[in-house]
Amino acid sequence: MTNDIIGTLESLVPELTQALGQASSLDEVEALRVRFLGRKGLLAELMSGMAALSPEERPAVGKAANTVKTAMTVVWEERVQALQSVMQDQALEFFDPSAPSWRPDRGSLHPVTRVMREVCSVFTGLGFEVVSGPEVENDFTNFEALNLPPEHPARDMQDTLYISDSILLRTHTSPLQVRTMLARKPPLGVIAPGKVYRRDSDITHTPMFHQIEGLLVDTHVTMADLRGILTAFVQTVFGHDTKVRFRPSFFPFTEPSAEVDISCVICGGSGKTAPDTACRVCKETGWVEILGCGMVDPAVFAKVGYDPDIYTGFAFGLGVERIAMLKYGIGDLRMFFENDLRFLGQFA
Ligand code: DAH
Repeated sequence: MTNDIIGTLESLVPELTQALGQASSLDEVEALRVRFLGRKGLLAELMSGMAALSPEERPAVGKAANTVKTAMTVVWEERVQALQSVMQDQALEFFDPSAPSWRPDRGSLHPVTRVMREVCSVFTGLGFEVVSGPEVENDFTNFEALNLPPEHPARDMQDTLYISDSILLRTHTSPLQVRTMLARKPPLGVIAPGKVYRRDSDITHTPMFHQIEGLLVDTHVTMADLRGILTAFVQTVFGHDTKVRFRPSFFPFTEPSAEVDISCVICGGSGKTAPDTACRVCKETGWVEILGCGMVDPAVFAKVGYDPDIYTGFAFGLGVERIAMLKYGIGDLRMFFENDLRFLGQFA
Protein backbone atom coordinates (compact mmCIF):
# COMPACT_ATOMS: atom_id res chain seq x y z
CA MET A 1 0.00 0.00 0.00
CA THR A 2 2.63 2.53 1.02
CA ASN A 3 4.87 1.56 -1.87
CA ASP A 4 1.98 1.96 -4.31
CA ILE A 5 1.30 5.47 -3.15
CA ILE A 6 4.98 6.39 -3.20
CA GLY A 7 5.32 4.92 -6.69
CA THR A 8 2.33 6.94 -7.95
CA LEU A 9 3.71 10.04 -6.30
CA GLU A 10 7.12 9.64 -7.88
CA SER A 11 5.66 9.00 -11.33
CA LEU A 12 4.26 12.55 -11.26
CA VAL A 13 7.74 14.03 -11.79
CA PRO A 14 8.50 12.40 -15.20
CA GLU A 15 4.88 12.94 -16.22
CA LEU A 16 5.12 16.68 -15.54
CA THR A 17 8.55 16.87 -17.16
CA GLN A 18 7.21 15.34 -20.35
CA ALA A 19 4.12 17.54 -20.41
CA LEU A 20 6.27 20.64 -19.86
CA GLY A 21 8.46 19.62 -22.78
CA GLN A 22 5.42 19.76 -25.02
CA ALA A 23 4.07 23.05 -23.68
CA SER A 24 5.05 26.00 -25.87
CA SER A 25 3.45 28.95 -24.13
CA LEU A 26 3.45 30.42 -20.64
CA ASP A 27 -0.31 29.85 -20.51
CA GLU A 28 0.12 26.12 -21.10
CA VAL A 29 2.90 25.96 -18.52
CA GLU A 30 0.70 27.72 -15.99
CA ALA A 31 -2.14 25.24 -16.69
CA LEU A 32 0.28 22.39 -15.93
CA ARG A 33 1.24 23.99 -12.64
CA VAL A 34 -2.43 24.10 -11.68
CA ARG A 35 -2.94 20.52 -12.80
CA PHE A 36 0.05 19.05 -10.93
CA LEU A 37 0.78 21.45 -8.09
CA GLY A 38 -2.45 23.39 -7.65
CA ARG A 39 -4.71 23.29 -4.61
CA LYS A 40 -6.95 20.73 -6.32
CA GLY A 41 -4.14 19.25 -8.45
CA LEU A 42 -2.82 15.71 -8.73
CA LEU A 43 -0.35 16.05 -5.85
CA ALA A 44 -3.00 17.49 -3.54
CA GLU A 45 -5.40 14.73 -4.54
CA LEU A 46 -2.90 12.02 -3.60
CA MET A 47 -2.13 13.76 -0.34
CA SER A 48 -5.79 13.79 0.63
CA GLY A 49 -5.52 9.95 0.62
CA MET A 50 -3.01 10.24 3.49
CA ALA A 51 -5.86 10.28 6.00
CA ALA A 52 -6.56 6.65 5.27
CA LEU A 53 -2.96 5.63 6.17
CA SER A 54 -1.86 4.34 9.53
CA PRO A 55 0.33 6.59 11.70
CA GLU A 56 3.35 4.35 10.96
CA GLU A 57 2.90 4.68 7.21
CA ARG A 58 2.49 8.44 7.09
CA PRO A 59 6.10 9.68 7.61
CA ALA A 60 7.51 7.81 4.58
CA VAL A 61 4.68 8.93 2.31
CA GLY A 62 4.89 12.49 3.63
CA LYS A 63 8.63 12.60 2.98
CA ALA A 64 8.17 11.25 -0.55
CA ALA A 65 5.43 13.81 -1.20
CA ASN A 66 7.72 16.65 -0.16
CA THR A 67 10.54 15.41 -2.36
CA VAL A 68 8.17 15.10 -5.32
CA LYS A 69 6.76 18.55 -4.72
CA THR A 70 10.23 20.09 -4.66
CA ALA A 71 11.29 18.18 -7.79
CA MET A 72 8.14 19.25 -9.67
CA THR A 73 8.59 22.85 -8.65
CA VAL A 74 12.18 22.80 -9.88
CA VAL A 75 11.36 21.34 -13.33
CA TRP A 76 8.42 23.70 -13.66
CA GLU A 77 10.51 26.80 -12.86
CA GLU A 78 13.26 25.68 -15.24
CA ARG A 79 10.72 25.41 -18.04
CA VAL A 80 9.30 28.87 -17.30
CA GLN A 81 12.77 30.39 -17.47
CA ALA A 82 13.62 28.58 -20.68
CA LEU A 83 10.41 29.74 -22.33
CA GLN A 84 10.95 33.35 -21.20
CA SER A 85 14.43 33.47 -22.62
CA VAL A 86 13.21 32.09 -25.96
CA MET A 87 10.53 34.77 -26.07
CA GLN A 88 13.05 37.46 -25.25
CA ASP A 89 15.33 36.31 -28.08
CA GLN A 90 12.38 36.43 -30.44
CA ALA A 91 11.49 39.95 -29.32
CA LEU A 92 15.08 41.09 -29.80
CA GLU A 93 15.02 39.88 -33.39
CA PHE A 94 12.53 42.65 -34.10
CA PHE A 95 14.25 45.29 -31.99
CA ASP A 96 16.88 47.36 -33.74
CA PRO A 97 18.82 49.35 -31.16
CA SER A 98 20.53 51.31 -33.93
CA ALA A 99 17.23 52.65 -35.35
CA PRO A 100 16.78 56.43 -34.89
CA SER A 101 14.69 57.21 -31.87
CA TRP A 102 11.52 59.25 -31.62
CA ARG A 103 12.19 62.69 -30.19
CA PRO A 104 9.45 64.95 -28.82
CA ASP A 105 9.22 68.39 -30.47
CA ARG A 106 10.12 71.23 -28.15
CA GLY A 107 8.14 74.43 -28.39
CA SER A 108 9.94 77.73 -28.83
CA LEU A 109 9.13 81.41 -29.02
CA HIS A 110 8.46 82.93 -32.43
CA PRO A 111 11.40 85.10 -33.53
CA VAL A 112 9.11 88.14 -33.63
CA THR A 113 8.09 87.49 -30.02
CA ARG A 114 11.72 87.06 -29.02
CA VAL A 115 12.76 90.34 -30.58
CA MET A 116 9.76 92.19 -29.11
CA ARG A 117 10.63 90.92 -25.66
CA GLU A 118 14.29 91.72 -26.07
CA VAL A 119 13.66 95.26 -27.30
CA CYS A 120 11.11 95.89 -24.55
CA SER A 121 13.50 94.62 -21.91
CA VAL A 122 16.22 97.02 -23.09
CA PHE A 123 13.82 99.93 -22.68
CA THR A 124 12.25 98.79 -19.41
CA GLY A 125 15.85 98.52 -18.19
CA LEU A 126 16.20 102.21 -19.03
CA GLY A 127 13.06 103.03 -17.04
CA PHE A 128 10.42 102.94 -19.79
CA GLU A 129 7.04 101.37 -19.08
CA VAL A 130 5.27 98.98 -21.48
CA VAL A 131 1.78 100.10 -22.63
CA SER A 132 -0.69 98.70 -25.14
CA GLY A 133 -3.83 99.79 -26.95
CA PRO A 134 -6.48 98.65 -29.44
CA GLU A 135 -5.69 97.41 -32.95
CA VAL A 136 -9.00 98.81 -34.16
CA GLU A 137 -8.45 102.55 -33.94
CA ASN A 138 -10.26 105.74 -34.80
CA ASP A 139 -9.14 108.35 -37.30
CA PHE A 140 -8.40 110.91 -34.59
CA THR A 141 -5.92 108.75 -32.67
CA ASN A 142 -4.28 107.09 -35.67
CA PHE A 143 -4.01 110.20 -37.87
CA GLU A 144 -5.58 113.50 -36.82
CA ALA A 145 -3.93 113.89 -33.40
CA LEU A 146 -0.62 112.89 -34.98
CA ASN A 147 -0.80 115.98 -37.18
CA LEU A 148 -2.17 114.11 -40.20
CA PRO A 149 -5.38 116.03 -41.03
CA PRO A 150 -7.86 114.43 -43.49
CA GLU A 151 -6.35 115.70 -46.73
CA HIS A 152 -2.73 115.38 -45.62
CA PRO A 153 -0.67 113.74 -48.39
CA ALA A 154 1.36 111.77 -45.82
CA ARG A 155 -1.71 109.64 -45.13
CA ASP A 156 -0.85 107.92 -48.39
CA MET A 157 2.44 106.78 -46.86
CA GLN A 158 0.42 104.16 -45.02
CA ASP A 159 -2.27 102.50 -47.10
CA THR A 160 -5.09 102.02 -44.62
CA LEU A 161 -7.56 99.19 -44.04
CA TYR A 162 -10.82 100.95 -43.14
CA ILE A 163 -13.68 99.44 -41.17
CA SER A 164 -15.89 102.52 -41.61
CA ASP A 165 -15.21 106.14 -42.57
CA SER A 166 -13.61 106.90 -39.23
CA ILE A 167 -12.75 103.45 -37.82
CA LEU A 168 -9.70 101.61 -39.11
CA LEU A 169 -7.03 99.06 -38.33
CA ARG A 170 -4.15 101.00 -36.84
CA THR A 171 -1.44 101.57 -39.45
CA HIS A 172 1.27 102.12 -36.84
CA THR A 173 1.79 102.00 -33.08
CA SER A 174 2.01 105.82 -32.95
CA PRO A 175 -1.61 106.16 -31.70
CA LEU A 176 -0.23 104.88 -28.39
CA GLN A 177 1.59 108.22 -28.12
CA VAL A 178 -1.77 109.97 -28.27
CA ARG A 179 -3.55 107.55 -25.92
CA THR A 180 -0.76 107.77 -23.36
CA MET A 181 -0.57 111.56 -23.40
CA LEU A 182 -4.36 111.91 -23.17
CA ALA A 183 -4.38 109.63 -20.11
CA ARG A 184 -1.32 110.91 -18.23
CA LYS A 185 0.68 113.95 -17.31
CA PRO A 186 4.47 114.21 -17.87
CA PRO A 187 7.05 113.10 -17.00
CA LEU A 188 6.43 109.83 -18.85
CA GLY A 189 8.43 107.25 -20.77
CA VAL A 190 6.58 104.44 -22.50
CA ILE A 191 7.21 101.70 -25.00
CA ALA A 192 4.33 100.17 -26.98
CA PRO A 193 4.77 96.89 -28.88
CA GLY A 194 2.00 95.52 -31.10
CA LYS A 195 0.48 94.51 -34.40
CA VAL A 196 -0.16 97.04 -37.16
CA TYR A 197 -2.00 96.69 -40.46
CA ARG A 198 -1.61 98.08 -43.95
CA ARG A 199 -3.14 97.39 -47.34
CA ASP A 200 0.10 96.10 -48.68
CA SER A 201 1.31 92.66 -49.70
CA ASP A 202 4.43 91.73 -51.64
CA ILE A 203 7.85 90.21 -51.03
CA THR A 204 8.82 92.88 -48.54
CA HIS A 205 5.38 93.79 -47.12
CA THR A 206 2.74 91.79 -45.26
CA PRO A 207 -0.72 93.18 -44.40
CA MET A 208 0.02 92.65 -40.71
CA PHE A 209 3.37 93.27 -39.07
CA HIS A 210 4.74 94.41 -35.73
CA GLN A 211 6.04 97.72 -34.49
CA ILE A 212 7.37 99.10 -31.26
CA GLU A 213 6.70 102.72 -30.42
CA GLY A 214 8.65 104.74 -27.90
CA LEU A 215 7.76 108.08 -26.29
CA LEU A 216 9.46 110.16 -23.64
CA VAL A 217 8.06 113.51 -22.46
CA ASP A 218 9.44 115.76 -19.76
CA THR A 219 10.82 119.26 -19.35
CA HIS A 220 14.17 119.77 -21.12
CA VAL A 221 14.17 116.57 -23.24
CA THR A 222 16.52 117.11 -26.18
CA MET A 223 17.62 115.35 -29.30
CA ALA A 224 20.82 114.44 -27.46
CA ASP A 225 18.71 112.30 -25.10
CA LEU A 226 17.10 110.62 -28.10
CA ARG A 227 20.47 109.96 -29.62
CA GLY A 228 21.93 108.53 -26.44
CA ILE A 229 18.97 106.26 -25.70
CA LEU A 230 18.75 104.90 -29.25
CA THR A 231 22.50 104.33 -29.43
CA ALA A 232 22.36 102.36 -26.18
CA PHE A 233 19.45 100.37 -27.56
CA VAL A 234 21.15 99.56 -30.88
CA GLN A 235 24.41 98.52 -29.26
CA THR A 236 22.66 96.28 -26.72
CA VAL A 237 20.68 94.46 -29.41
CA PHE A 238 23.27 94.36 -32.23
CA GLY A 239 26.57 94.53 -30.37
CA HIS A 240 28.76 97.29 -28.99
CA ASP A 241 30.77 97.77 -32.19
CA THR A 242 27.65 98.73 -34.15
CA LYS A 243 27.78 102.29 -35.48
CA VAL A 244 24.70 104.51 -35.42
CA ARG A 245 23.88 107.37 -37.79
CA PHE A 246 20.98 109.83 -37.76
CA ARG A 247 19.71 111.03 -41.13
CA PRO A 248 17.29 113.97 -41.50
CA SER A 249 13.82 112.81 -42.54
CA PHE A 250 10.18 113.79 -42.28
CA PHE A 251 7.27 112.55 -40.19
CA PRO A 252 4.20 114.74 -39.56
CA PHE A 253 4.26 114.03 -35.81
CA THR A 254 7.90 114.87 -35.14
CA GLU A 255 9.97 117.98 -35.78
CA PRO A 256 12.82 117.63 -36.46
CA SER A 257 12.58 114.03 -37.68
CA ALA A 258 15.29 111.53 -38.41
CA GLU A 259 15.84 108.05 -39.65
CA VAL A 260 18.35 105.90 -37.84
CA ASP A 261 20.79 103.72 -39.76
CA ILE A 262 23.15 101.20 -38.23
CA SER A 263 26.34 99.82 -39.73
CA CYS A 264 25.30 96.74 -41.70
CA VAL A 265 25.24 93.73 -39.38
CA ILE A 266 25.74 91.32 -42.29
CA CYS A 267 28.90 92.78 -43.87
CA GLY A 268 30.12 94.72 -40.83
CA GLY A 269 29.70 98.01 -42.68
CA SER A 270 32.20 97.23 -45.45
CA GLY A 271 29.52 96.80 -48.10
CA LYS A 272 31.07 93.49 -49.16
CA THR A 273 30.49 89.95 -47.86
CA ALA A 274 33.66 88.76 -49.71
CA PRO A 275 36.41 90.76 -51.48
CA ASP A 276 34.36 90.99 -54.66
CA THR A 277 30.83 90.13 -53.46
CA ALA A 278 28.46 93.02 -52.84
CA CYS A 279 26.41 92.82 -49.61
CA ARG A 280 22.79 92.39 -50.62
CA VAL A 281 21.37 93.50 -47.29
CA CYS A 282 22.84 97.03 -47.34
CA LYS A 283 23.22 97.13 -51.14
CA GLU A 284 26.91 97.90 -50.72
CA THR A 285 26.28 101.09 -48.73
CA GLY A 286 27.45 99.61 -45.39
CA TRP A 287 24.36 101.03 -43.65
CA VAL A 288 20.84 99.71 -42.99
CA GLU A 289 17.84 101.73 -41.85
CA ILE A 290 16.20 100.48 -38.66
CA LEU A 291 13.78 103.10 -37.37
CA GLY A 292 12.15 106.51 -37.58
CA CYS A 293 12.25 109.05 -34.78
CA GLY A 294 12.21 112.71 -33.85
CA MET A 295 11.19 115.36 -31.34
CA VAL A 296 7.44 115.38 -30.66
CA ASP A 297 5.86 118.05 -32.87
CA PRO A 298 4.28 120.92 -30.84
CA ALA A 299 1.14 120.42 -32.96
CA VAL A 300 0.77 116.94 -31.40
CA PHE A 301 1.21 118.39 -27.89
CA ALA A 302 -1.53 120.87 -28.70
CA LYS A 303 -3.93 118.03 -29.65
CA VAL A 304 -3.44 116.27 -26.31
CA GLY A 305 -3.43 119.43 -24.17
CA TYR A 306 0.27 119.55 -23.23
CA ASP A 307 1.90 122.99 -23.11
CA PRO A 308 4.69 122.96 -25.73
CA ASP A 309 6.40 125.86 -23.92
CA ILE A 310 6.90 123.64 -20.88
CA TYR A 311 7.34 120.16 -22.32
CA THR A 312 9.49 118.59 -24.95
CA GLY A 313 9.75 114.95 -25.89
CA PHE A 314 11.04 112.44 -28.34
CA ALA A 315 9.37 109.53 -30.12
CA PHE A 316 10.48 106.65 -32.25
CA GLY A 317 8.94 103.73 -34.08
CA LEU A 318 10.60 100.58 -35.32
CA GLY A 319 9.56 97.53 -37.31
CA VAL A 320 10.04 94.32 -35.35
CA GLU A 321 10.31 91.98 -38.35
CA ARG A 322 12.98 94.20 -39.82
CA ILE A 323 15.05 94.05 -36.62
CA ALA A 324 14.57 90.26 -36.47
CA MET A 325 15.68 89.86 -40.10
CA LEU A 326 18.85 91.83 -39.45
CA LYS A 327 19.55 90.18 -36.12
CA TYR A 328 19.12 86.61 -37.34
CA GLY A 329 20.16 87.12 -40.97
CA ILE A 330 16.73 86.18 -42.36
CA GLY A 331 16.38 87.02 -46.03
CA ASP A 332 12.63 86.72 -46.63
CA LEU A 333 9.91 88.49 -44.61
CA ARG A 334 7.33 85.83 -45.51
CA MET A 335 9.17 83.22 -43.44
CA PHE A 336 7.75 84.84 -40.29
CA PHE A 337 4.18 84.06 -41.28
CA GLU A 338 4.38 80.66 -42.98
CA ASN A 339 4.58 78.72 -39.71
CA ASP A 340 7.14 76.31 -41.11
CA LEU A 341 8.45 74.44 -38.08
CA ARG A 342 11.81 73.86 -39.77
CA PHE A 343 12.24 77.64 -39.69
CA LEU A 344 10.61 78.38 -36.34
CA GLY A 345 12.42 75.49 -34.59
CA GLN A 346 15.74 77.22 -35.15
CA PHE A 347 14.86 79.78 -32.49
CA ALA A 348 14.45 77.20 -29.71
N1 DAH B 1 4.83 105.67 -37.26
C1 DAH B 1 5.92 105.64 -38.22
C2 DAH B 1 5.65 104.60 -39.29
O1 DAH B 1 4.89 103.72 -39.06
C3 DAH B 1 7.21 105.32 -37.56
C4 DAH B 1 7.66 106.44 -36.66
C5 DAH B 1 8.48 107.44 -37.13
C6 DAH B 1 7.25 106.51 -35.35
C7 DAH B 1 8.92 108.46 -36.35
C8 DAH B 1 7.66 107.55 -34.53
C9 DAH B 1 8.51 108.53 -35.05
O2 DAH B 1 7.30 107.63 -33.26
O3 DAH B 1 8.93 109.53 -34.24
O4 DAH B 1 6.23 104.68 -40.33
